[in-house]
Amino acid sequence: MKVLVTGGAGFIGSHTVVELLSEQHETLILDNYRNSSPEAVRRVRELSNGRVTAQEADILDTQNLSCIFAEFQPDAVIHFAGLKAVGESTMNPLLYYRQNIEGAISLLEAMDRNGCSDIVFSSSATVYGEPDYLPLDEAHPLRPANPYGKTKYFIEEMLRDWCAADKHKSAIALRYFNPVGAHASGRIGEDPNGIPNNLMPFISQVAVGKRERLKIFGNDYDTHDGTGVRDYIHVVDLARAHVAAVNALVRIDGFEPVNLGTGQGYSVLDVLHAFEKASGRTIAHAFAPRRPGDVAASYADPTRARQLLGWKAELGLDEMCISSWNWQRQNPDGYAGS
Ligand code: NAD
Ligand code: WQD
Repeated sequence: MKVLVTGGAGFIGSHTVVELLSEQHETLILDNYRNSSPEAVRRVRELSNGRVTAQEADILDTQNLSCIFAEFQPDAVIHFAGLKAVGESTMNPLLYYRQNIEGAISLLEAMDRNGCSDIVFSSSATVYGEPDYLPLDEAHPLRPANPYGKTKYFIEEMLRDWCAADKHKSAIALRYFNPVGAHASGRIGEDPNGIPNNLMPFISQVAVGKRERLKIFGNDYDTHDGTGVRDYIHVVDLARAHVAAVNALVRIDGFEPVNLGTGQGYSVLDVLHAFEKASGRTIAHAFAPRRPGDVAASYADPTRARQLLGWKAELGLDEMCISSWNWQRQNPDGYAGS
């Protein structure tokens, strides 16, 4: 299939393009490099024997998008492009509403103009908000607690309506839990700007000597060791789920939300200890107050992904830590260091 990948130079997009190419799909990356580097595309090219095409473009430019669609004629779209920092979205909500929601409208309009009716969308487990029960299944009420999460929820609703208006349309919204890890080669990985917000890149930067110590946000949660529990999922597993979703689009009509997680929760201390084992380094840490907006525990019921996509996560916490360390060690300054 011909697959157009918005945001394909980013963390999850770059890993997904590698997996799409290994399954013989033809891909075109569209990215404005707002939160990524052309170096990521160069490395994807290196990992896939040069078969990657990429175009610098902003998804908000519908006219340009439409021309790109007319030329490439994709069978399906995977839509990663967007902004993803929860804290920034709270401080600058209109930026998030414009970039994420207007970006999605622009993309769907370009698809409509060019007869493309199949899309896989990067949603997030953040659409669930504070859990009523665990594990979280797709029927759990949706109560996103910040502007970023609300953009994911509104885009899901838009996709639902877009599909309801035309029975030939299909949209799969993949609700990721906590994506971590890197490609086994260590050539592509997560490259956050500035101080990382997320746990795994922060731990990796402590291990490599770029940060002094990890602050653990809260040790008084009702969890097995008092620290927050999450469902970490290896980015390569996640990438393979996108290939499964693209393949599933042909047999699915309408809108389908699907959780992508392992179903297994690990605490901050579990991750820290697994990373110490993987890297052979001690991770300096200190307990700090809870981070506002955090929940005690969140993990997926991944049954639907198995039923609908024939996919389940294969890689465990050790592989997540080993690959994160391998990437960090080889690229202490991310893509900027090359
Ligand atoms: P990322 O920032 O690495 O990738 C997003 C890519 O989109 C970047 O390359 C960026 O330059 C590009 N982009 C942003 N705005 C654009 C625009 N207007 N036009 C063209 N390109 C644009 O993020 P990621 O971690 O790879 O996440 C990919 C998607 O998955 C995002 O939609 C994110 O919200 C979602 N998601 C991520 C996580 C996570 O923890 N990483 C969890 C759940 C959902
Ligand atoms: C994990 C655990 C922290 C950093 C976020 C977004 C979510 C989704 C994925 C996009 C928590 C603890 C963290 C640190 C710590 N993104 N922690 N010290 O908050 O589950 O999810 O990323 O859709 O929307 O909210 O992930 O990696 O930030 O935190 O103690 O320096 O690690 O408190 O328990 P989170 P995270």
